[in-house]
Amino acid sequence: MIFRQLFDAVSGTYSYLLASRAGGEAMIIDPVLEKVDRYLQLIRELDLRLVKAVDTHLHADHITGLGALRDRTHCITVMGENTKADVVSMRLAEGDRLTVEGVSMDVLYTPGHTDDSYSFVMGDRVFTGDTLLIRGTGRTDFQNGDARMQYESLFGKLLRLPDETLVFPAHDYKGDTVSTIGEEKRYNPRLQVKSIDEYVELMGNLNLPNPKLMDVVIPANMHVGLHQDELEKQGLALNARQAIDSLGRSDVLLVDLRESSERAKHGTLSGAMHAPYPSIDESLRPGGMLREVAAATGRRIVFFCAFGERSAMAVAAAKEAGLANTAHIAGGIDAWKKAGGPVLPG
Ligand SMILES: [Fe+2]
Repeated sequence: MIFRQLFDAVSGTYSYLLASRAGGEAMIIDPVLEKVDRYLQLIRELDLRLVKAVDTHLHADHITGLGALRDRTHCITVMGENTKADVVSMRLAEGDRLTVEGVSMDVLYTPGHTDDSYSFVMGDRVFTGDTLLIRGTGRTDFQNGDARMQYESLFGKLLRLPDETLVFPAHDYKGDTVSTIGEEKRYNPRLQVKSIDEYVELMGNLNLPNPKLMDVVIPANMHVGLHQDELEKQGLALNARQAIDSLGRSDVLLVDLRESSERAKHGTLSGAMHAPYPSIDESLRPGGMLREVAAATGRRIVFFCAFGERSAMAVAAAKEAGLANTAHIAGGIDAWKKAGGPVLPG
């Protein structure tokens, strides 16, 4: 297993790069915009392919690297389903799994620091974002933070993990890099409370100044989505209505780019072929499945995914591979459902 903890000294942010093997798929958790060049260099040096960039929550102290990593590597951007970010490729909920090849994490919804805070549990370790810090907890006084919810997330979820579980937070300002659940239970001063009311009282009296760049950073992090308008101008996008009207047409081949778990949870479209996004380049190569099906049938490939990001990138990848007769469903199956389109069990 390849595991790297990376540090941004300006914001005190830890980012985590994970992969199961050299030459394999990788994911990065909580990347910082200013460090993107460094991450990409390391990813090249370790011979990895970045498939997912994940934020534990909408950050207020640094601009996320999600958008830049997507633009430069065409990776999938991931956040929790409660995020206010305009578009990310994939949204997770408690009970879902966050996976790349050989790496699988359980998703826990751990609100309190923000209402879109999630933690990811993988075997002997947990990535706690700003919910549980080393000898601290994330502030709860903005971004719909709520000390009561945080208490529940801590005492009801994170502190129930085995004591030896390694704790990897999104921040540390003292230079500590890792802790354990047992250590935090005993020595984290915020956790030495006897009741939820005592915790709420403690968090209500912190009187912290706002992060310096908060007014710039939060709006920037909310507008991390891929701009899909260019495809529309080029006639390479169908809006949900047009897509619904084209259902069943013999000259159209719908291609579902999502993961099996997303299809199982959210359903799929009638007649859609499944071609997961991480293998899109192989599928589009001469001899690849999509390339051959498109050539054999003469049908126009219409890609779709959850929110339209993966499908927009697939249209670009197809063009690059010399396949011009493609399009995507703007806004993905989310927009399709909102427009009343029929969905089959996945
Ligand atoms: Fe935060």
